[in-house]
Amino acid sequence: MQSHSDHAIRRRDLIMAGAAAGALGVPPLAQAQSAAPAERSTMPAQFSSEVSMVVNGEMRKLRLDVRTSLLDALREHLHLTGTKKGCDHGQCGACTVIVEGRRINSCLTLAVMHEGDRVTTIEGLGTPEKLHPMQAAFVKHDGYQCGYCTPGQICSAVAVVDEINAGIPSHVSADLMAQPQLTAMELRERMSGNICRCAAYPNIIDAISEVAGRKA
Ligand code: FES
Ligand code: FES
Repeated sequence: MQSHSDHAIRRRDLIMAGAAAGALGVPPLAQAQSAAPAERSTMPAQFSSEVSMVVNGEMRKLRLDVRTSLLDALREHLHLTGTKKGCDHGQCGACTVIVEGRRINSCLTLAVMHEGDRVTTIEGLGTPEKLHPMQAAFVKHDGYQCGYCTPGQICSAVAVVDEINAGIPSHVSADLMAQPQLTAMELRERMSGNICRCAAYPNIIDAISEVAGRKA
């Protein structure tokens, strides 16, 4: 596990690398990612890096442009397209994945910052034949309409139940030292980073409540 200071150094290095890349005419990230694989391989070695992550239980090694977000690494390089890109700015939660047991917006973090990390995406939670209990509950309670936000909602919901079971408080808890109360308000607050344009919120809360064992 890297320390914050390691991350700080890495970010500074990346900013400098990005500035140098611009100065040397290296294509912008979006352009580089849409390029054909053969073109991508022309990326100067100093602007790429190897990273190894355990994704859905499987060790994956990648050589990436250092500016690649974890979201793009998952979708464009590992072809795990269950994780969705909504805003790409940390505002919608569609890209939520679970890293080292914590839910994060994968659009807001660089893949190279996750050397050695365990990453779980929607593909790693269950299969069509054997759904994760949260996936089954979303189906049962119609916790979606178009489904675009759903992988992020489900990854977030799985982590929320773990957070509550671990006694991690949120700021709506009456007493931050007390065990979090499993109320609809608590669940709504904890899920507030996951936006649903179809407004399936009541059904989403019903699904999470069932899995978490809430009675009312
Ligand atoms: Fe990451 Fe919207 S795509 S928060
Ligand atoms: Fe359509 Fe949530 S189900 S955005």
